[in-house]
Amino acid sequence: MAKKNELTHLAVILDGNGRWAEKHGLPRVKGHEAGAERVIDLVENLKDTSIRFLTLYAFSNENWNRSEEEVSALMELLCSFLDHYGKKMVENKIRLLVTGRRDRMPQKCLDQLDSVIKMSAENFERTVIFALNYGGRQEITDAVKSIAQQVKNGSIDPDAIDEKTVADHLYHPSIPDPDLLIRTSGELRISNFLLWQISYAEFYFTDTFWPDFDKAELNKAIDSYYNRNRRFGGRN
Ligand code: FPP
Repeated sequence: MAKKNELTHLAVILDGNGRWAEKHGLPRVKGHEAGAERVIDLVENLKDTSIRFLTLYAFSNENWNRSEEEVSALMELLCSFLDHYGKKMVENKIRLLVTGRRDRMPQKCLDQLDSVIKMSAENFERTVIFALNYGGRQEITDAVKSIAQQVKNGSIDPDAIDEKTVADHLYHPSIPDPDLLIRTSGELRISNFLLWQISYAEFYFTDTFWPDFDKAELNKAIDSYYNRNRRFGGRN
């Protein structure tokens, strides 16, 4: 089991691509492209840290409300990211997982995701989880539905339902909860991200736009984390 203060799971709300692009007089999609480059840098930088799990909020349930042009540019970007970086992930012993609902995701993206997930499923040292078509409330709703189904067919006794039952029905029950949650771009919100799992996470907010979040910024966040006193509701 991880030590109390060890940084094992980092979760990141990647925000500010659009404003970064605007600041540089570029179309929004260029901000997302720069953001995807930063994702690669961050994954590469994991090897110098204790982080074993990295969850990235790449596309929320609410992001479908963006223009059709931006949604398809983001999906294209995901496909080309997997095309260019998928094999490298496997070589670097990075396992890919996805959290979120599969419905609405373009089949081409699903196929590419499934292919990298399969290739990277063995012989890995670290895990990167893309939250795609993801919402924390939807995840909890899906868990409730699955538990209700099992109550209905008699495999779960309602009186025996506890926190572990709920946690066991989330999308990835074997992944430890995040220790640190970073949100870039100055927004002070959680935006429906990992609502159940972040109960005891430390939060780090920075004004830096995601495409400018480099290794020095990562190290600042990590230093801040190690200066926190995590009490998990107790006293010490
Ligand atoms: C938020 O910035 C970012 C997103 C909605 C998408 C995140 C996507 C990437 C970093 C690139 C693709 C990812 C992968 C995994 C290849 P925003 O558009 O909300 O920025 P704004 O608030 O400044 O407009």
